[in-house]
Amino acid sequence: MVGVLLTVLLLIAGYAETANILFVIPFSAMSHYIFLRPIGLELAHRGHNVTVITTHLEKNPMPNYNQVEVTQKKIWELIEDDTGTIFDMADLSAEEFHHKVVWPGGLAFTELTLNSPEVKEFLMKDNTFDLVICEQFVQEALYALSVKYNAPLAIISTFGNCMRHNIMTRNPLQLATVIADYLNVYNPGSFWGRLRNLYFTGYEYLWWRYWYLGKQEELVKKYLPELADETLSLYDLQKNASLMLINSHFSFDTPIALLPNIIEIGGVHVTQSNASLPEDLQKLLDESKNGVVYMSFGSNLRSADLPEQKKKAFINVFKQLKQTVLWKWEEDILENKPKNLVTGRWLPQQEIIAHPNIKLFITHGGLIGMQEAVYNGVPIVGVPIFCDQYNNVLLAEQTGVGKILQYNDINEETLKQTLNEVLNNESYLKKAKELQQRWKDRPMSPLDTTIFWLEYVIRNKGAEYMKNPARNMSWFAYSMMDVYAFLLVVVVVCVTLTVNFIQTFLNGSQIDTTDRKKIKKS
Ligand SMILES: *[C@@H]1O[C@H](CO)[C@@H](O)[C@H](O)[C@H]1NC(C)=O
Repeated sequence: MVGVLLTVLLLIAGYAETANILFVIPFSAMSHYIFLRPIGLELAHRGHNVTVITTHLEKNPMPNYNQVEVTQKKIWELIEDDTGTIFDMADLSAEEFHHKVVWPGGLAFTELTLNSPEVKEFLMKDNTFDLVICEQFVQEALYALSVKYNAPLAIISTFGNCMRHNIMTRNPLQLATVIADYLNVYNPGSFWGRLRNLYFTGYEYLWWRYWYLGKQEELVKKYLPELADETLSLYDLQKNASLMLINSHFSFDTPIALLPNIIEIGGVHVTQSNASLPEDLQKLLDESKNGVVYMSFGSNLRSADLPEQKKKAFINVFKQLKQTVLWKWEEDILENKPKNLVTGRWLPQQEIIAHPNIKLFITHGGLIGMQEAVYNGVPIVGVPIFCDQYNNVLLAEQTGVGKILQYNDINEETLKQTLNEVLNNESYLKKAKELQQRWKDRPMSPLDTTIFWLEYVIRNKGAEYMKNPARNMSWFAYSMMDVYAFLLVVVVVCVTLTVNFIQTFLNGSQIDTTDRKKIKKS
């Protein structure tokens, strides 16, 4: 009884400091939700009144976790699909991928969100919020909600560092070492690597700023007309965001200078899971004395869509392994399945990777799964297809915890060689354990870090003082061009004057000597 009273009292006491938080994460890709989910739940757990705009509904949420449902649609259903299977995207350049997928997908998805009946109904109501948190994923129109509710804006990227954000907030670009997220460059530090990075960064920024944001602003006008009166600039909104949380950490990702309001929360979704595995899986993993190879291409790519040739290559190579192979295979039947191969339509990945018998993770290189492997010290073989996948796998290869196998290079020979290399050469496991140790070595867990900074922004009413003053300077002033130009002029004038003076002096002294001669003669 006393305990209950105490709890109630503590809840009430705690409630005084709690806030109304709007969490806008409508994007339907499961991997994004896996990353963002614990943040919303934890905010609610700490007593905040959380309202989440989402496609993924929690079944038994806490009473202070309110859900507004976005119409269920996959991104691939919204864009014209002339690409065959998603695997064909392995052949697209970063620019083509933006034209075919990122820009049209972002616009369609933003519109889908704003046009969802529940969202529309929610937006009609009179709510107040102390903080608006939005995922930053080409759906900038939703940032306008921070204007609607007159609340500070925090943005969260499910990817690492964002070049567009760096440019507008004047975070140092570091183009020589920090590669644009979606760009495949094998040797980023080389001359051509840096040139490619600069070109793509310019391409992406110009398209985004001068075309895409305009399209997003049209969506604001259409669906939030009451806001369109104010001279609303989505560019300014993002530039003035209070906080940017990014999914990276320097213990694995390239170290980068970051402004104080850009915070690394890499791996926020990975924790020591208490969830137990389903009985059959637990038994399988426990009893596989030679270890287990786990393969999954994530939630977007279906292994079952692999072309026949590549499918065969996987099966034939798996057959020769002494390990058990566990494969996320999205159909009930897989022909010619060898004895040591077990498939599942859906597999609880975090718990599987955490099992001590897992020897290798074959992945498409999605950031979420990569971080689960890093957290659990598991070596990887990565087959990147699109987005940031190549860069994630490249990092793993450079760190020595895995190998890249390009999709187009997959055949029995290459597959066998790559798998044997990572399974039998102990250095991969050793490096993976080293990486695991330093990945976890942080002053606060990524989730605590996230909550701290979100609450910090609420406590400090947007923490205006934390924003980079340089963001409001012209490019000219920020890059010191005017000062350098001035100095150049000063130097040029000084040099010219000095040269002139010396010339005059030399001429003068000539006159002088002739004059003297004249005097002597007379
Ligand atoms: C919590 O947020 C919802 C909006 O989703 C609102 O209807 C409700 O009144 C809020 N509760 C409190 C205690 O502020």
